[in-house]
Amino acid sequence: MLFLALLGALPFVRARPESYAVWAADSAIARGQGNGYVDGSVKVSYEHGELHYGLRLLYEETGNQTYYDYILDASNVIVDDNGKIASQYKPSEYQQDPIRTGPTFAYLYEETGDEKWKTAMDAFHTQLMSQPRTDEGQFWHKLVYYNQGWLDGIYMGEIFYLTYLNKFQPNNQTAYDDIEKQFELMYKNTLVEDTGLLYHGYDYSHTASWADEDRGHSPEVWDRALGWYVMALVDLLEIWPGDKTTFLTHLQALAPAIVKAADPDTGVWWLVMSQPGREGNYFESSGSVMFVYALLKGVRLGYLQDTDGSILAAATKAYGYIVDEWVTDNGDGTFDWQNTVEVGSLSGAGDYDYYVSVDVKVNDLKGLAAFLLASVEFEKLA
Ligand SMILES: *[C@@H]1O[C@H](CO)[C@@H](O)[C@H](O)[C@H]1NC(C)=O
Ligand SMILES: *[C@@H]1O[C@H](CO)[C@@H](O)[C@H](O)[C@H]1NC(C)=O
Repeated sequence: MLFLALLGALPFVRARPESYAVWAADSAIARGQGNGYVDGSVKVSYEHGELHYGLRLLYEETGNQTYYDYILDASNVIVDDNGKIASQYKPSEYQQDPIRTGPTFAYLYEETGDEKWKTAMDAFHTQLMSQPRTDEGQFWHKLVYYNQGWLDGIYMGEIFYLTYLNKFQPNNQTAYDDIEKQFELMYKNTLVEDTGLLYHGYDYSHTASWADEDRGHSPEVWDRALGWYVMALVDLLEIWPGDKTTFLTHLQALAPAIVKAADPDTGVWWLVMSQPGREGNYFESSGSVMFVYALLKGVRLGYLQDTDGSILAAATKAYGYIVDEWVTDNGDGTFDWQNTVEVGSLSGAGDYDYYVSVDVKVNDLKGLAAFLLASVEFEKLA
């Protein structure tokens, strides 16, 4: 009796959590983030897709059913019983962003066998099959972004495209080649020759106000855009069935360039990576955690040969800064996630002044979900 009473009174308050991944997931769930709604309206949201991938990994690690149920409930909000995707999704706009929820549909199809998820996947696949393209074959980021490829689109579209092929068209070599081409064109057209980083995007027609006269690329390297790209590389590599050379070449070139671009004092990365230290520039959290995730996963799966240990050292240093500076305990079992820039778009000037003028948000899911992913990887090191 006495023992039980004492046990009941033990303070389960934690200074440092046992798992930042669990804490991140629980904080997001406690706030209802990624539940299929944004500001009270149904939204087919890539941020939710990003979070659900993290929750899926955490479910696989911990076996805690809460995470699986959350993914399922949120997905049922955006897909009805017949597999129809909520009307907020407008295929005629040819946006790649909503397609990022597709890998979750594939996962739920596997887990439940419910045909509704296949129906929903077919809708996204149908969009991709008529997605407008540049003359070279790159998917436009959206219909309104005439002839533009953005790094973001690679994360939004290609993981789903590949997941779909692996399940339903595993012998369609044309389609696998198409995915490879999406990466090759994006890389070639956005490569910054001196640093080895990638510009945010490019306009094949060179008509956007920001398009470089010679190559059509946008003016700056935006951390989150590059973050999406390298996350896409490691996630794709894990499920790519054929020759991985193209993707490995990209990752192995980008990883040292990213490590080199880290701020030497803090270990994290600038919002505008092409202008480190310039007035108004700052350390941004979403891009930083995306890099940590991609570097750690790349090393763990052997896609990066970290012979001198510099990649793990860089990721570990950055992760230390991140948990010290950007994770703030609310004292109620949740934390607030700091310093994620709200948006970065090529719909306007796309210049330095634009990027640094955008608001920074607390608990922005794009950054918080990536922190969950990075933490899942980091905790595998132990
Ligand atoms: C599973 O996760 C939920 C939500 O975070 C938590 O409340 C619960 O205690 C966890 N269950 C177990 C068995 O760890
Ligand atoms: C293979 O994929 C391409 C698109 O990449 C598509 O046009 C074609 O219909 C697919 N072929 C089959 C047999 O499904």
